[in-house]
Amino acid sequence: MIIAIDGPAAAGKGTLARRIAETYGFHHLDTGLTYRATAKALLDAGLPLDDEAIAEGMARKVDLAGLDRTVLSRHEIGEAASKIAVMPSVRRALVEAQRRFAEKAPGTVLDGRDIGTVVCPGAPVKLYVTASAAVRAKRRHEEIVEAGGSANYDAIFEDVKRRDERDMGRTDSPLKPAEDAYLLDTSEMSIEAAFQTAKSIIDAAL
Ligand code: C5P
Repeated sequence: MIIAIDGPAAAGKGTLARRIAETYGFHHLDTGLTYRATAKALLDAGLPLDDEAIAEGMARKVDLAGLDRTVLSRHEIGEAASKIAVMPSVRRALVEAQRRFAEKAPGTVLDGRDIGTVVCPGAPVKLYVTASAAVRAKRRHEEIVEAGGSANYDAIFEDVKRRDERDMGRTDSPLKPAEDAYLLDTSEMSIEAAFQTAKSIIDAAL
């Protein structure tokens, strides 16, 4: 059983994916972390972000078992990740690893931008989780403030829109819903309500 969850940054897909994985006892892979880990390795080594062969080499070394959002969450890492995510050979390397992960028993939940369209097009359950850019920026802003940090809403809003443009505008695997994906707009929906909707879709497919 493979559950594919896609959507733009800060739409709530990570929270939803973790909750689904816990509920069904499935393995979970946040595929954004594979792009982030590649970007961080390049930044740490002082290597350029615009050399595709070097970036591909780093992508092939990413260890899926060692991914940790707490060390990969930094804003600069997200920005760098979306830059190297436009490179076809980086995508190919990471997609290969993601597909191997997807085969784990008894089931997997993968979340990202191209799971339903490219990584696992045959997944029996595909969800496309979205929300307006303003709502997503507000959620991200609240998260940062609640964690004790300081953040500027307008800057976050601009950042969310820039990331959307880059993810939706790239030629290789742009962010878009798969034709057979179920659309979940969480702009005016709680995570709990989104989870209940997702659960009924998954239960019907099991
Ligand atoms: O989801 P997250 O913000 O961690 O992803 C970081 C970046 O990695 C995204 O902006 C996107 O460019 C890229 N990404 C991707 N395909 C995925 C997951 C993430 O291109 N499946």
